[in-house]
Amino acid sequence: MDKIDISTSISNIKLSSCIMNASGALCSTEIELLNLLKSSSGAIITKSCTNILRKGNLEPRYFEWKLGSINSMGLPNLGIDFYLYFLENIEFKKPFFLSISGLSTEENLLLVEKSNAFSNIDALELNFSCPNINTNKKILGYNFNEISNLLEKIFEFNKKPVGIKLPPYFNDDHFNKISNILNKFPISFVTCINSIPNGIFIDINKESTVIRPNNGFGGIGGKIIKPFALSNVNKFYSLLRKDISIIGCGGITSGKDIFEHILCGATAVQVGTQFIKEGIKIFDRLKNELVSFIKNKDYSSINNFKGNLKKVK
Ligand code: DHB
Repeated sequence: MDKIDISTSISNIKLSSCIMNASGALCSTEIELLNLLKSSSGAIITKSCTNILRKGNLEPRYFEWKLGSINSMGLPNLGIDFYLYFLENIEFKKPFFLSISGLSTEENLLLVEKSNAFSNIDALELNFSCPNINTNKKILGYNFNEISNLLEKIFEFNKKPVGIKLPPYFNDDHFNKISNILNKFPISFVTCINSIPNGIFIDINKESTVIRPNNGFGGIGGKIIKPFALSNVNKFYSLLRKDISIIGCGGITSGKDIFEHILCGATAVQVGTQFIKEGIKIFDRLKNELVSFIKNKDYSSINNFKGNLKKVK
């Protein structure tokens, strides 16, 4: 039987499978990270970290239903030092991405600087899209000047492969502006999309919101956001330099969803809501489903169809 190749690379980082977890999904604690190490995910990314441990927002702060999830976690994480030293005594054989989410320019610079000293960290994903912090209601990804200034400072000293986790964009002016900025910097990848900010889900019996922080408003993920994830992947595929890889994230629950992300231009994919729902075995299931899907299409590797989305004429 012909072998189907679902390996991929981002910059010079090789992933044996193009499927990995999304930052935030079951990747905060030692046990969760060890589980990911043992799984068939092609790489691991951590929960977005800050310099100092954070407990996050009050519970309930995460809720899921058939079509998606809503969260206002408030960046609960063990602090960057935990994630940097976690790898020290571990023999591991897959790429390790550190997600960072400083609450100020200074904090972001410090986090990048600290991680540059650790050779076990293969790449950084800068989270420019956290929607849930009370003290800082701004989403960095929507502030183009600030992004440009921060990247300017980071690339004065940074030596690690860097990617950026973007919020969803909805109009061409924004796609063009952010792409023009990103194309000026030696970034390795973008991950799109983060959750769609400021959704509400209602418990109809109680006539109430379902999460406590931020008056019930939170970031929406899962099945329901797939059309926006695909559109963002495809827009950036046509607007960004060809050496900038795109990691697709949003609405993946099956091998077919992964095929769609790759068709739109993704080089790899991340799974968040469905990983939380289904647990660590999801990586085997998605891998098998993707391989079958590719085989049925008579392709042999993801490069045969990556970015080849046809447009109705
Ligand atoms: C949180 C949520 C996000 O969508 C994100 O990108 C980062 C952090 C959070 O609330 O913890």
